[in-house]
Amino acid sequence: MKTIIEVKNLTTKFGERVIHDNISFEIFKKDIFALLGGSGSGKSTLLNTMIGLNQPTSGMVKILGKNILALNPQESLNMRLNFGVLFQFGALFSSLNILDNLTLALREYTTFPSKVIKDISLMWLNKVGLNQEVANLYPNELSGGMIKRVALARALSLSPKILFLDEPTSGLDPKGAREFDNLIKELRDLLELNVVMITHDMDSVKGIVDRMIILKDKKIFFEGSLKELSQQTDSIDLFLYQI
Ligand SMILES: Nc1ncnc2c1ncn2[C@@H]1O[C@H](COP(=O)(O)OP(=O)(O)OP(=O)(O)O)[C@@H](O)[C@H]1O
Ligand SMILES: [Mg+2]
Repeated sequence: MKTIIEVKNLTTKFGERVIHDNISFEIFKKDIFALLGGSGSGKSTLLNTMIGLNQPTSGMVKILGKNILALNPQESLNMRLNFGVLFQFGALFSSLNILDNLTLALREYTTFPSKVIKDISLMWLNKVGLNQEVANLYPNELSGGMIKRVALARALSLSPKILFLDEPTSGLDPKGAREFDNLIKELRDLLELNVVMITHDMDSVKGIVDRMIILKDKKIFFEGSLKELSQQTDSIDLFLYQI
C-alpha cells in the first residue's frame, strides 16, 4: 500500500492549549480517508495543517513524498496546486455567476486562453452532475445540494491529486447526502483521486470511507478501516454515535 500522506509526531497548540498531542497516522493512495471526532476535537485544524494553512508546533507532515513544513514559498505553492479543497464554511462568491466562480483558479494559475478555461470549467460542471445552464445562474438561485456540487467542481478545477473535504454532506438531506457520497466515490474511481474528508455523517463513513482516524482527547483514538473497528466493538453504530 503506497502512502500518500504521512503525519508523524504532530503537536498543535494554540497558545497554551494543546489540540493535537504527538499524533501519527498514514493515508494510503486512492483511499477515501475520514477524519472523525467530536466538535472541537481538532479535525479542521488538522486538515488546515495538511494543506499548509496552519503551522503546527512540532512534527512532520509528508505529502506526496515531501515534508510540507520544510518547503520554501515557491515549493509550497507548487504543493498547493496538488490540492483541491472544499472548506467547511466555503461558500461561492455570491456576486459572481457559477461559471465565473469556476474559472477563478484557472484564470489565476494558468495561462490558458479564456475559451479553454471556459470549456474546462463546463467539463467539471458536467462531471459533478450539473447541467450547462447552471453556469449562467448565481449562487442564490441554486439549491444547497447544487451549491455543494459547484464547490466540488471548483475544488477540482486545477485537476488536483488530493481532494480535501470538510463536512461535505452537512446541510444536505439524507438523499442528497448519499448522492454526494456516490459522486465523491465515482470521481475518486474515475480520476484516481485521493480523498481526505472530515465528516459527522455515519452513513458516509459506512458507505464510502476506506480508512479513518478518530480524534479524541488530543490523541488518535482509532486508526483503521470500518472492518477493523467492528472487531474492536460490539456495536459500531453505538460507538460512532458516541464520538
Ligand atoms: N486559529 C485558532 N486560534 C485559536 N484556537 C483555534 C484556532 N483554530 C481552532 N482553534 C480551536 O481549536 C479547537 C479545534 O478546532 P477545530 O475547528 O479544528 O475543531 P473541529 O474538530 O473541526 O470541530 P467542528 O466539528 O465543530 O468543526 C477548538 O477548540 C477551536 O476553538
Ligand atoms: Mg471543523
